[in-house]
Amino acid sequence: MRKKGTFEGDVYYPSNDVINQANVREFDKLYQMSIENRDGFWAEQANELEWYKKWDKVLDDSKKPFYKWFTGAKTNIVQNAIDRHLKTWRRNKIAIIWEGEPGDFRTFSYHALNREVCKFSNVLKSMGVRKGEIVTIYMPQIPELVIAMLACAKIGAAHSVVYGGFSVEALAERIEDANSKVLITADGGFRRGKPTNLKGIANEAIKRSPTIEVCICVKRTGEECFMENDRDFWYHDLMGLPIANAKCDTEVMDAEDMLFILYTSGTTGRPKGQVHTHGGYGVFTSTTHRMVFDIKDDDRWWCAADPGWITGHSYIVYGPLINGTTIMMYEGAPNHPYPNRWWQMIEKYGITVLYTSPTAIRGLMRFGDAWPARHDISSLRLLGSVGEPINPEAWKWYYKVIGNEKCPIMDTWWQTETGGFMITPLPITPLKPGSATKPFFGNEVAVVDDKGKEVATGEEGILVIKNPWPGMARTIYGDEKLFVDTYWKDFKKQGWYKTGDSARIDKDGYVWVIGRIDDVIKVSGYRLGTAEIESALVSHPDVSEAAAIALPHELKGNAIHSYVILIAGKAGSKELAEELKTHVANEMGPIAKPEDVIFTDSLPKTRSGKIMRRVLKARALGQDEGDLSTLED
Ligand code: WTA
Repeated sequence: MRKKGTFEGDVYYPSNDVINQANVREFDKLYQMSIENRDGFWAEQANELEWYKKWDKVLDDSKKPFYKWFTGAKTNIVQNAIDRHLKTWRRNKIAIIWEGEPGDFRTFSYHALNREVCKFSNVLKSMGVRKGEIVTIYMPQIPELVIAMLACAKIGAAHSVVYGGFSVEALAERIEDANSKVLITADGGFRRGKPTNLKGIANEAIKRSPTIEVCICVKRTGEECFMENDRDFWYHDLMGLPIANAKCDTEVMDAEDMLFILYTSGTTGRPKGQVHTHGGYGVFTSTTHRMVFDIKDDDRWWCAADPGWITGHSYIVYGPLINGTTIMMYEGAPNHPYPNRWWQMIEKYGITVLYTSPTAIRGLMRFGDAWPARHDISSLRLLGSVGEPINPEAWKWYYKVIGNEKCPIMDTWWQTETGGFMITPLPITPLKPGSATKPFFGNEVAVVDDKGKEVATGEEGILVIKNPWPGMARTIYGDEKLFVDTYWKDFKKQGWYKTGDSARIDKDGYVWVIGRIDDVIKVSGYRLGTAEIESALVSHPDVSEAAAIALPHELKGNAIHSYVILIAGKAGSKELAEELKTHVANEMGPIAKPEDVIFTDSLPKTRSGKIMRRVLKARALGQDEGDLSTLED
């Protein structure tokens, strides 16, 4: 009997209180069953949801790696995220608690959320949005963002949410790839006490990507912004028209129909639109959310990510709403106006589960223990972490100071491509700080060398997933070949999915994710591609070639460092370095701003002309440069 969670050596054992109330109380047997009968396990989870028509087949693997889940089934994710709750007492349960950075707040019951979603669905229809087309959403973290996503889904259109911190070129590129005719945005949002200028950026992006015919703009900040006649409409004007009727039928979709695309950075070139579906994604996000975060009806769940990234899609919006959960959303910076902002909100709203990133934890930790100590945050019963490996120091602070030594930390490993948690503890799992522990039900992983041979226990190698799962991305939008080449080619013989991460597995079977082995950089947990940063640099008239690498950073996990070759006749200077940094921030967004710009005459390249970033990195860190036999000269 453990009354309190305790450490034995390096292993943390949860208390009996945690174990006795857990949704899942036994792991090994159920895991074994889920591996032996994967289809059975997922069918059982799918049966927790409502369907217009159930599936003929749980998994169709006849066209590997283009797996299909719940084929023949009819559903719409909104059927489960809203409609079914309206038939129960949850109709009047709070769906969303939202607080703006200036301190304003709003709440929506499931009834109210449904009303707003229906109204906006009718608005979108009146604008000519049809089933199957992709609507781009570029918004701050306000309730209308969730309403817009759900309205698209409800009428069978797919959404492509572009993170509100991205800038002109990133937005334009994504609009164009998705061929969107409709853009939903806002005049801005509040960040560190200042209004952002989203509409200004949207206007610039529309100039570069001429597919947009209609732009719907939410008035959030009230700042002056340019509205083009006959193209731009205020959200509140449209929602006041008779067309914005509060009744709207939910479109019946195939389980495999596209729910959204979400762009993510990968090894090469342009961002890739990961395609997720109504059926499998809904089953996967709600199951993982319910089991890993032990969701109960009286929980107040706060996933403090931005809805513009996969974490927000899966665990602010879809998973939690399907589970009928009360979700918390906050618009602004964690330390505005003071570093107690989060703790103040946890106290004010009685938040029970907090899910955030190691970067956010490190950022708040540096302000000291006194800020959380000012608040009663004892309502918390579980904590979560995502986005990058959590360092022991941050883990301990989170556990002690925020969780008061009673909340286990769910360190969840997953990706945009996986749709939801793949390697994660449950509340009952003994924890090792820094390890995401073991694969979730139905999943088997391995750490292998480049030939697919498992490496020895404790050794570093490539992390692969050995099986399909319902939340997996179905393809890269418009580029099936790239999908196969990126994830399924290297271990084609075995049929494994290549994650792009390196990891090791210890003697107890615990997985320790180390980091990316490709050209993806994780800055503050945000995912960026070296190729995108380089192309932003090269778009400056003075730059001829550029390379970007990641170097360790205390707060951000990684920071971007860039190397630049200028065009003939231009000389590097401090001013130009600053100008280039700002240029990248303007094109891509502030998160992509390089830490420094180093001017150079040459870059290490292979004979085929590929920049050898690992050589740049080794040099910068003063490490061994490794095998240089492929270096050009
Ligand atoms: C990293 C975010 C260690 C990893 C959900 C992965 C993690 C990439 C963890 C995906 C974790 C995510 N521990 N590393 N718990 N969670 N990562 O697509 O490198 O933005 O491949 O999805 O984040 O980033 P993405």
